Amino acid sequence: MEKMSLRDVEVADKTVLVRVDFNVPLKGGEVADETRIRASLPTIRDLVERGARTILCSHLGRPKGKPDPEKSLRPAAGRLSDLIGREVRFASDCVGEEAEEAARSLANGDLLLLENLRFHAEEEANDDGFSRRLASLADLYVNDAFGSAHRAHASTEGVTKHLSPCVAGFLMEKELEYLGSALADPRRPFVAILGGAKISGKIDVMESLLEKVDALLVGGAMMFTFLRAEGERTGRSLVEEDRVETARRVAARARERGVDLRMPVDCRVSASTDGTDPGRIVSVTAIPDEAIGVDIGPGTLESYRRLIESAGTVVWNGPMGIFEVTAFSEGTFGVAGALADATMGAKTVTIVGGGDSAAAVVQAGLADKVSHVSTGGGASLEFLEGKVLPGVAALTDAGGGR
Ligand code: 3PG
Repeated sequence: MEKMSLRDVEVADKTVLVRVDFNVPLKGGEVADETRIRASLPTIRDLVERGARTILCSHLGRPKGKPDPEKSLRPAAGRLSDLIGREVRFASDCVGEEAEEAARSLANGDLLLLENLRFHAEEEANDDGFSRRLASLADLYVNDAFGSAHRAHASTEGVTKHLSPCVAGFLMEKELEYLGSALADPRRPFVAILGGAKISGKIDVMESLLEKVDALLVGGAMMFTFLRAEGERTGRSLVEEDRVETARRVAARARERGVDLRMPVDCRVSASTDGTDPGRIVSVTAIPDEAIGVDIGPGTLESYRRLIESAGTVVWNGPMGIFEVTAFSEGTFGVAGALADATMGAKTVTIVGGGDSAAAVVQAGLADKVSHVSTGGGASLEFLEGKVLPGVAALTDAGGGR
């Protein structure tokens, strides 16, 4: 990695501001999914063990620049404390007197979590005064919030102008290593699997991946826009009429590049999307006019499984169907299983982009059976699109510059 890492800096006896992504779901005032908190434990443990005074900061949800008790990070402090087995103090504002006093009173090895950064509109506005106030709490900065690295906010970008060095935490480093090496130097054949409802949010990633992969496998409702572009009848399935031309363009580019662009050969169709009708399997050339496509079919899954198992690298982003409904989840869980099987014996490097596909892999209990599950939704997508992530660009270069 070209950026300085936590392993490159002395932290003993120093106050370290760590941007984490504790944007976790809450339910009844408790953390409902602690994946993102766990993901930052290696960084936090290292700081504690090396005698740093650690100040953690994060956003949670989109509170629109005002305090919102429903979006308080306090439950995350409790959960982190349970996971790490030591006290985690909490400051009820991320800047101002209370935060300053809490920061001053830290002893080496202590941990403090600040309240939601987005309770101040200045965070998302990347306000320089706010960045300065955050920076004034600490001696150096660690960014471990890969999930927020695509945001140029005060705590991810602005703050780096006022602290030095600014280094990547271990989670950030791991994300960049896996996603970065997939793009820069993938073990081949390199297979990408893209799913999800719409082509519109995935055009850039598709175009970027088409320049790099050997095969691109399509699933999810976006397949119906591609099928329409091929002249198929798609019943009442979700089709983005204004993207049919884009789908044609993508297919043409794949042909030009010699990329094996695979469409499903069969799919599950149902009378409705809520699971009341479990539906049936049909060929994609025979979708009934009244039916809605809800998942890829078994024939498609089998052919995708073979391609996944013979791949050197697989990147997966987006579910194959409406996997939240059990009757429509076979394709998505089948792909998750195929990734896990391919990973065994270190044969294939398998990377799951964040968001829904990551949730599916976790739900299937396979998160530790694939090479890497990204904690970033939008961030992993933008990274795969080849975009520079502002939160990464702002870190100190390994050579010492920026
Ligand atoms: C995410 O969940 O993708 C990150 O935490 C970023 O959240 P945001 O989309 O609200 O900026």
